[in-house]
Amino acid sequence: PLVSMKEMLEKGKENGYAIGQFNLNNLEYVQAILQAAEEEKSPVILGVSEGAGKYMGGFKVVVAMVKSLMEEYGTTVPVAIHLDHGSSFEKCAEAIHAGFTSVMIDGSHHPIEQNIEMTKKVVELAHIHGVSVEAEVGTVGGEEDGVIGGINYADLEECKQLVSQSGVDCLAPALGSVHGEYQGEPNLGFKEMEEILNAVNVPLVLHGGTGIPTKDIQKAISLGTAKINVNTENQLAQAKVVREVLNEKPNLYDPRKYLGPSRDAIKETVKGKMREFGSSNQA
Ligand code: G3H
Ligand code: ZN
Repeated sequence: PLVSMKEMLEKGKENGYAIGQFNLNNLEYVQAILQAAEEEKSPVILGVSEGAGKYMGGFKVVVAMVKSLMEEYGTTVPVAIHLDHGSSFEKCAEAIHAGFTSVMIDGSHHPIEQNIEMTKKVVELAHIHGVSVEAEVGTVGGEEDGVIGGINYADLEECKQLVSQSGVDCLAPALGSVHGEYQGEPNLGFKEMEEILNAVNVPLVLHGGTGIPTKDIQKAISLGTAKINVNTENQLAQAKVVREVLNEKPNLYDPRKYLGPSRDAIKETVKGKMREFGSSNQA
């Protein structure tokens, strides 16, 4: 069923595993991720960035696509459709009205007072609709949807203030993670993560899940991380297969013949992440 993230994240935090957020880019992602979740018996979060939502035809199209595939597949695992890095109250409202079950309001590029204000407003609307909300403090490095940013570690006091004043359901404290591939090994602030976990009573979210070694994933989960976002890794897996197939057969043009095999690659990548995050057999 289509649900908010609230219950799945609380269960994950309590029982020491994390739910993957896998970003959608087109139809094949929805198919691959829903199939992976059902086969792994794992709860799952379908992430939709504003840019990807637009690419797929708008939030309503995304919701319709997810709902009809879930019906077609007879999906039994909990699925959340989540706005990733929502930039404004208006965008979050649009996603909620389109049927999203969860939203992220990313006010991390604004001063903390404004971030709290935006988050509070989104929480008020979202909770009326039973929709869960994620907020961010500090900034994730790297590029996403053409937005390039540097790394800024989340401040403990700001995290405390934001969570207590806004009533948000989960918090993404940026602690050195990066969108896209890492240059060398990631250097995550686990000491800060522990302090934040002890100061706020909500599940934590880790962005930039691509390229984080398993030991760091496990450490983050042990420190209250119940949601891990992955996008680039699926895109890399997909692109690799498309390249291979088209290089091998230069005369091939039927999209089903290169998108089909690349869809299998996305599905296998997602299944691997679910096992790594410990969410398999938790639905
Ligand atoms: O919000 C989405 C992510 O944080 C994904 O990061 O592309 O590095 O896996 P990634
Ligand atoms: Zn992110």
